[in-house]
Amino acid sequence: MAKTIQAIRGMNDCSPTESPLWQWVESKVRNVLQSYGYSEVRMPIVESTPLFARAIGEVTDVVSKEMYTFWDNDEQLTLRPEGTAGCVRAAIEHGWIYNNEQRLWYMGPMFRHERPQKGRYRQFHQAGVEVFGIANPEIDAELILLTARLWKELGIDQHVSLQLNSIGSLEARKNYRSALVEFLQQHIDLLSDEEKERLEKNPLRILDSKNQALQEVLNGAPKLLDYLDEESRTHFAQLCTLLDEMGIVYEVNPKLVRGLDYYNKTVFEWVTSALGAQGTVCGGGRYDGLVEQLGGHATTGVGFAMGLERLVLLVQEVNQNIDLPRAVDIYVVHTGEGTTLPAFQLAEKLRTDLPHLRTMTHCSGGNFKKQFKRADKVGAKFALVIGESEAQNQQVVVKDLLGGEQQVLAQADVVDFLKTAP
Ligand code: HAM
Repeated sequence: MAKTIQAIRGMNDCSPTESPLWQWVESKVRNVLQSYGYSEVRMPIVESTPLFARAIGEVTDVVSKEMYTFWDNDEQLTLRPEGTAGCVRAAIEHGWIYNNEQRLWYMGPMFRHERPQKGRYRQFHQAGVEVFGIANPEIDAELILLTARLWKELGIDQHVSLQLNSIGSLEARKNYRSALVEFLQQHIDLLSDEEKERLEKNPLRILDSKNQALQEVLNGAPKLLDYLDEESRTHFAQLCTLLDEMGIVYEVNPKLVRGLDYYNKTVFEWVTSALGAQGTVCGGGRYDGLVEQLGGHATTGVGFAMGLERLVLLVQEVNQNIDLPRAVDIYVVHTGEGTTLPAFQLAEKLRTDLPHLRTMTHCSGGNFKKQFKRADKVGAKFALVIGESEAQNQQVVVKDLLGGEQQVLAQADVVDFLKTAP
């Protein structure tokens, strides 16, 4: 036998048994986004590399070590590691946001060369939202309400919690950065080599450190919230008030800074303790400078993205009450002279008249026993049986595969029977 070829590490297949749950999660996401009036956009998976370097930031982990980049003749291209940069690029390119508000969403694969583990993959899927042209905190609150509604729909709301912070303006962050570096230099012996490098390039990311001893010291570090500019402070206070009034529970986490450079003011993450180390199911925030930074007219932006693999894992972990649709409701069984055509005609009629039912026609021959086995295997509720005598008399045997009863009906009456069948 020829040697088999395996999938790339960290890039997963979705099997026929897994796809119903994925479809269920995706349809909940789509329905909630549509119920808020958001419009779908679809961007290419490959973009020019400088887009990500400029939007996400050269010194972030994503750009400095996780991108899948390659040369296409003399152009450097990258498999998108996230959706915001491409969405902003498209919005500028097509004038979606010029003097205009836009509330957009997208769903699809993203690529990061990270070390794979449960909940962390090299190809993963995000559903993301980007809103342009709304500066006030009402829209930040709407995004949080939208995600909270989705968690309820998915049955995971008791297992996620909201972390919220404001990282202020660029200026405020610069001031804070100096204060933090000064503080960390007093504890330099606690920093790993990687953290020492971060201290120069991106010291705010050290706040996320997994090092327990350093985390304890960091509790006494200067707080970003104390360095906020007046405008960011007011924005954050208004957001918190609105969330309080809408009954959204959150924790202000002064160490939450996010891993991408484009943010300002509000940042947030929904986290869970049910998935081990990869507990962030959704993250986002404001990026009021990004559109201009990528060459557009100054336009505010705010958005988030959720990891669909993590949501699917969490739903599997905590929600046992999902009623997934069966893959096949009706299996059409036929054997003998002149039975193929009536079987096909009957199946097509059912698909026309009862499009909500899933009808499969047996296609691989064999006796009734073999065909009924197949019907059981695919999980059908009813088998419709056409043998030679049924074909001659325009009849069909309807067999309830769960209850076991069967009856003979005229083919013309099957639709009415199935309409009212339990
Ligand atoms: P992010 O925090 O990098 O933000 O990713 C958002 C979510 O994608 C994470 O919370 C996580 O659920 C999921 N995710 C990220 N990396 C992986 C991975 N390797 N494997 C599985 N899931 C993963 C962004 O991407 C921003 N673009 C979000 C945003 C939109 N901010 C404003 N607008």
